[in-house]
Amino acid sequence: MADFISGFWNMYVMVIVALSLLFCVFVLVSNMTKREAGPVQLHGHVWDETLAEYNNPLPRWWMYLFWITIGFAVVYLAIYPGFGKTNQERGEHAQYEAEMKAANEKYGPIFAKYRGMDLAAVAADPEAKAMGQRMFLTYCAQCHGSAAQGAKGFPNLTDDEWQWGGEAETIKTTITGGRIAMMPPFGPSLGAEGVKDVANYVRSLSGLAHDSLRAQRGAELFQQNCVACHGADAKGNTAMGAPNLTNKIWLYGSSEATIIETITNGRNNRMPQFGEFLGEDKVHLLAAYVVGLSKK
Ligand code: HEC
Ligand code: HEC
Repeated sequence: MADFISGFWNMYVMVIVALSLLFCVFVLVSNMTKREAGPVQLHGHVWDETLAEYNNPLPRWWMYLFWITIGFAVVYLAIYPGFGKTNQERGEHAQYEAEMKAANEKYGPIFAKYRGMDLAAVAADPEAKAMGQRMFLTYCAQCHGSAAQGAKGFPNLTDDEWQWGGEAETIKTTITGGRIAMMPPFGPSLGAEGVKDVANYVRSLSGLAHDSLRAQRGAELFQQNCVACHGADAKGNTAMGAPNLTNKIWLYGSSEATIIETITNGRNNRMPQFGEFLGEDKVHLLAAYVVGLSKK
């Protein structure tokens, strides 16, 4: 009942609805005239010289339809419920609160237990793993896949390559605060030929087929443009989220066309932040779950 009384806008709507219904009733009642005995009266208006209008009462069936409509509105409002919550609903609300309380009582101590343990220890705990997996399927699988193996643009979390770092605490930081990758577009500054050269150099780094002349020119371009993030040895830099370009693990793909697309347009994928949404306890369990995935 409390939210019913305190809700000004509830009242506002209810008063308007009730007044409108009363007004409809008033209009109907004030028009319920009986047909008077004697000759039928005319309204007084005349059109087209001879066309006049009888001043008869509204037809009964038509009036009844209106009454039925008003009755329907009242019943509908009561059941909908337009006048506040029904007892049943208040019961459901209370039931929900009770269930939440019970869940907190049940899981609170479990969360507290894991919160006190370090991530490696939590990762080794089978019960924590099951809880982590359930949460992963709910909150993370749509991007990283239900087996956490990722997809184009979404990193695989089961391998040993980490854009942002694979330390347990770093993984937790990633999940808590999210990450935004900033691979700038080089199409404008390098031009199509320059991009193709550097793409061939990138392919040469991991032993993929390449044009060696282009790769040679590309190596120079790479030193001028790319090492700040990917490192002089192209092994990546977790401070920037820049991936290692020398191995067989690709976030977007290793074909020449895909690498050219990456370099030309840049990439800006982002990992959403979950710290506020899930809270420390759940992030702790999720981080432990991810840590467990890659340490097989
Ligand atoms: C909306 C899609 C999306 C969701 C949902 C999502 N992620 Fe991510 N995640 C990404 C993307 C994209 C990246 C890579 C960010 C980048 O490009 O730097 C990423 C990166 C990561 C990384 C860092 C990987 C590395 O190599 O450093 C971890 C760890 C991670 N996610 C865990 C999670 C967990 C745990 C969840 C669920 C709580 C989750 N993600 C939910 C999109 C998502
Ligand atoms: C400002 C930092 C920065 C610079 C400079 C930079 N990169 Fe990147 N690069 C990144 C980041 C961050 C990513 C990851 C993008 C993502 O996760 O969406 C990336 C991704 C890539 C990828 C995709 C790798 C994969 O696994 O699919 C390639 C290829 C690449 N960079 C090549 C280059 C080349 C070549 C240059 C120089 C012309 C360059 N980058 C310059 C930060 C940078």
